[in-house]
Amino acid sequence: PEAIVVSELANRMAERVADVVKALMQNGIMATQTQTIDADTAELIIEEFGHRVVRVSASDVEDVIQQTEDAPEDLKPRAPVIAIMGHVDHGKTSILDAIRKARVSHGEAGGITQHIGAYQVETEGGATLTFLDTPGHAAFTSMRARGAQVTDIVILVVAADDSVMPQTVEAIAHAKAAGVPMIVAINKIDKHDADPDKTRTSLLQHEVIVEKMSGDVQDVEVSALTGQGLPELLEAIALQSEILELRANPDRQAQAAVIEAKLDVGRGPVATVLIQNGTLRQGDIFVVGEQWGKVRAMENDRGERVKEAGPSVPVEVLGLNGTPEAGDVLNVVSTEAQAREIAEYRQNAARDKRAAAGAATTLEQMMAKA
Ligand code: GTP
Ligand code: MG
Repeated sequence: PEAIVVSELANRMAERVADVVKALMQNGIMATQTQTIDADTAELIIEEFGHRVVRVSASDVEDVIQQTEDAPEDLKPRAPVIAIMGHVDHGKTSILDAIRKARVSHGEAGGITQHIGAYQVETEGGATLTFLDTPGHAAFTSMRARGAQVTDIVILVVAADDSVMPQTVEAIAHAKAAGVPMIVAINKIDKHDADPDKTRTSLLQHEVIVEKMSGDVQDVEVSALTGQGLPELLEAIALQSEILELRANPDRQAQAAVIEAKLDVGRGPVATVLIQNGTLRQGDIFVVGEQWGKVRAMENDRGERVKEAGPSVPVEVLGLNGTPEAGDVLNVVSTEAQAREIAEYRQNAARDKRAAAGAATTLEQMMAKA
């Protein structure tokens, strides 16, 4: 599995590609600069050129960021992470706004959510909930998939006047693929043409059998407009989280999932992450996908500076050396050298993979021509 493209090998030794190709030839290996050679051959060549071989294998990387299992006594209850999903305009952001007593939906361009928002809410009962608001527009499939993957519970919002629509079906598929329990929120119940039973029947066709149809998926009729049913929705969430017994160990190096990342003109690369285990602190050194960094500053969902973030908390992290991909995992490591080495290893591995894929295509194209 470990291999390197000839030109990349030359690059890393700071030798001319032609010389490397020649050295290979002298060893009986005919390879062009875009071809891939195995690690053993590369090692032979490296030694011939008088360089030192340093292999950073995938398992070394795993060792550094290895997730030791948490002892049961170290696990503490954590807030549930709840993704709100469903078809465009069915009222996801409005429901969340009503729960948070905020007005995000009013500020959205064209009234359409275009990114994943992450918010923490304290309920009147004193529980903390983490919500992910996902976009319903057809264009944002990968965001919905990601939303479902980092979540504990999916709230499927279906507007009672519109019933089950394409992205409703898609959201059901994401929730099922991620193995996440669902709660159905039948919204816009205030509308005169609301037909909640039609929604329940349509859901049957997609193997979502709600409690009112004698199934085991909780369903709640709500209106984001009037607030009707929202206390019941929060109760349904509380019940579902109790069943899940969600726990994490706050006293360890953090692991987090990147929900969104962007290059901010003023602040540099910024990542919104959701802490999955451990506590992330200012000054922590981390790798995240092919990037690394040191936490320079963190902001919570209200834009306030925080010095640390524990399990289930969404935070914006500053101090990255590059922009990671949404979906990447962030791991805190002990030293900057480790962080650099792992990030570099991953960058090289990704580049080799792309080069190999490129070489394969060319070969195929050549075969096709012949
Ligand atoms: P996307 O994020 O773009 O997928 O939309 P969304 O699901 O977040 O819907 P949003 O909350 O933006 O609401 C869409 C429209 O439906 C807005 O005009 C809301 O005011 C309206 N709406 C949302 N909930 C209700 C409700 O319970 N009753 C009524 N009558 N209108 C609602
Ligand atoms: Mg929305």
